[in-house]
Amino acid sequence: VSAAMTEKTWKRYTGGEAKGFVDEMRLVAMKLHTRQQAQEGEMEAKAPEEQRVEEWEPTLDGYLKFLVDIKVVYDTLEQIIEKPSFPSLLSDIECMGCGADGEFRNTGLERSEKLAKDLKWFEEKGYGVPEASSPGVAYAKYLKQLSEKDPQAFICQFYNIYFANTAGGRIIAKKVAEKILDSRELEFYKWDGELSQLLQNVRDKLNKVAENWTREDKNRCLGETEISFKFYREIVRLMLS
Ligand code: HEM
Repeated sequence: VSAAMTEKTWKRYTGGEAKGFVDEMRLVAMKLHTRQQAQEGEMEAKAPEEQRVEEWEPTLDGYLKFLVDIKVVYDTLEQIIEKPSFPSLLSDIECMGCGADGEFRNTGLERSEKLAKDLKWFEEKGYGVPEASSPGVAYAKYLKQLSEKDPQAFICQFYNIYFANTAGGRIIAKKVAEKILDSRELEFYKWDGELSQLLQNVRDKLNKVAENWTREDKNRCLGETEISFKFYREIVRLMLS
């Protein structure tokens, strides 16, 4: 199945209005949430992780599995950004000639080292930290392959993985920590610097990069959102296992 979004679906999702490209990515992502997850969501909740977070019954073992798997995803994403093996992705990541001064490296949103600290803390406390499991490993493998063949779709993954964590991720973190971690705040949800500013910087860069894309590139990127939801949800589901 092609991830590309048709002109018709794009119009349905965005009202046919193209402001900044990040707004388009956000609109598509918000509609893929369930009504229980976010106000702007339009999907019906079926699986447990699609229900209201207040109703979740997370376990500590499950949360550790989640952290280990999401770390595999961030490790891979951050390795790709650091050293893209594919020239056309490299140019988007470095944003060559797009006028945005900067790139997608060192945005301050990176999560790999933060997660390493959290897992170390759990280990020191004597919790058994598991091996990575298939949801994280499969997503990481997919991202690596995607980065080599479709830079625009890869950028959609980049957007969703980082922005999901700062939005829904923080809501989930708070509720889950209240239930099973004595409200401990993990490093995973702490940023150095003002988060809203870090996010805005990345939004500006994404908008700049996408200015050079054709409508077809943009629609292919938007169509990737659904795939990122599918993979990400599998990992979130680990919290409830
Ligand atoms: C935004 C909740 C999963 C991607 C949001 C917002 C909420 C939310 C409440 C709105 C924040 C705002 O007011 O702007 C949740 C919950 C989830 C979940 C409870 C439960 C599993 C996901 C997944 C993805 C995702 C799986 C994609 C992989 C996004 C993106 C935004 C967003 C891209 C926009 C962020 C922004 O504009 O800054 N989410 N979400 N979310 N979510 Fe989720």
